[in-house]
Amino acid sequence: MLIGDVDVRDLAGEYGTPLFVMDEADVRSRARAFWSAYSQAGADRVYYAAKAFLSTAVATWVTEEGLGIDVASGGELAVAMRAGVPGESLLMHGNNKSMEELTTAVQYGVGRIVVDSFEEIARCAQAAAAAGRVQPVMVRATVGVEAHTHEFIATAHEDQKFGLSAAGGAVEEAVRRIAKLPSLTLVGLHSHIGSQIFDASGFEVAAARVVALAQRIYDEQGIEIEELNLGGGMGIAYLDSDDPLDVQDMAAQIGDIVAKECAEYGITTPRLAFEPGRAIVGPAGVTLYEVGTVKPVQLDHGQVRTYVSVDGGMSDNIRTALYGAEYTVTLASRVSEAEPILCRVVGKHCESGDIVVRDAWLPGDLAPGDLLAVAATGAYCRSMASNYNYLPRPGVVAVRDGDSRAIVRRESIEDLLLLDVST
Ligand code: LLP
Repeated sequence: MLIGDVDVRDLAGEYGTPLFVMDEADVRSRARAFWSAYSQAGADRVYYAAKAFLSTAVATWVTEEGLGIDVASGGELAVAMRAGVPGESLLMHGNNKSMEELTTAVQYGVGRIVVDSFEEIARCAQAAAAAGRVQPVMVRATVGVEAHTHEFIATAHEDQKFGLSAAGGAVEEAVRRIAKLPSLTLVGLHSHIGSQIFDASGFEVAAARVVALAQRIYDEQGIEIEELNLGGGMGIAYLDSDDPLDVQDMAAQIGDIVAKECAEYGITTPRLAFEPGRAIVGPAGVTLYEVGTVKPVQLDHGQVRTYVSVDGGMSDNIRTALYGAEYTVTLASRVSEAEPILCRVVGKHCESGDIVVRDAWLPGDLAPGDLLAVAATGAYCRSMASNYNYLPRPGVVAVRDGDSRAIVRRESIEDLLLLDVST
């Protein structure tokens, strides 16, 4: 199997396994496609949501393709700063940003800080005043919509930690407070409704609620909402059966929805902004594992399930255990004509829930030393990786036009031992 014109056997030989392989051209073309489709649909900015996966290389690629970056912690901000991403291209999230994080962001000139609580409005104002700056902020509004894949739930109120309630008057109060603080300037409202969304229906309900809110704010306070950030959440295909709307269609539908809602409420359509994460890097990443053991297990009804143990697991992909996520896995190091058998690809951790791919049909002659490739692991795998069982986290390699280079070094056991300072 080739990725970015590089043979995965060469990658495994050179960098070891498990290994995250990131196709640079794919990340760049997705970033380009998002910017083109969403700017045509009225977006002023598309921010790449760094939580999906961040390294200075990725920060550079998406910046070169015209995206800004959404950071959700001081650590993500530090990576973007190290990559030299200009402050004005950055937006900062978080429901409990520390004073230190806010101060660094303000001093660096982060273009948007999305405030998430009344305490944070005060802290942000204090940080900006101390830095002698006027910080542009947005208010994160919770609109009672939660969307996943092709389903969404709409409620009148929202029982969750993010944002301020659109229905309960908290957003209006936040806007009132921000207007009184000379070191802050309100640029707009923010709403993020969920992740791995396949169609625009959830955005329709959310947009209607945010636009209604914008109209109330204008009527009551005379403040115009100039920018509306509708967050991320655009879904990707993990399986052949997954069928998300393509970038162009999703962008056009959301753009139309906002324009229609604004016309209905009689307000000027604000500038739009979006924050896709998964859809930029998810499909561009593949995890390579080496098979260690192949163990057939008799099931109650006479069937056999073959447990295929690989050299990573829940420490490099927690999504199967955490969300019941499903993945596509293939034998990547050779071609096999053997009949497929029902397999479960499992990791090497001391936990029976340590499953990478719950059900997979893999060639019956699968053997130790074979390489497996799990597709679409570019988002929320390396970024959510852990050191459970003291496994060093895998490195990330970028491939492009037949060449490869490490963009995140593989951890070593020595790295982990250095953290133990008690002796
Ligand atoms: N903007 C905000 C405010 C967010 O909270 C998120 C994701 C995004 C943008 C990017 O969403 P995306 O386009 O990547 O769906 N760990 C989970 C996903 C958590 C998403 C958290 N917020 C997973 O592995 O599926």
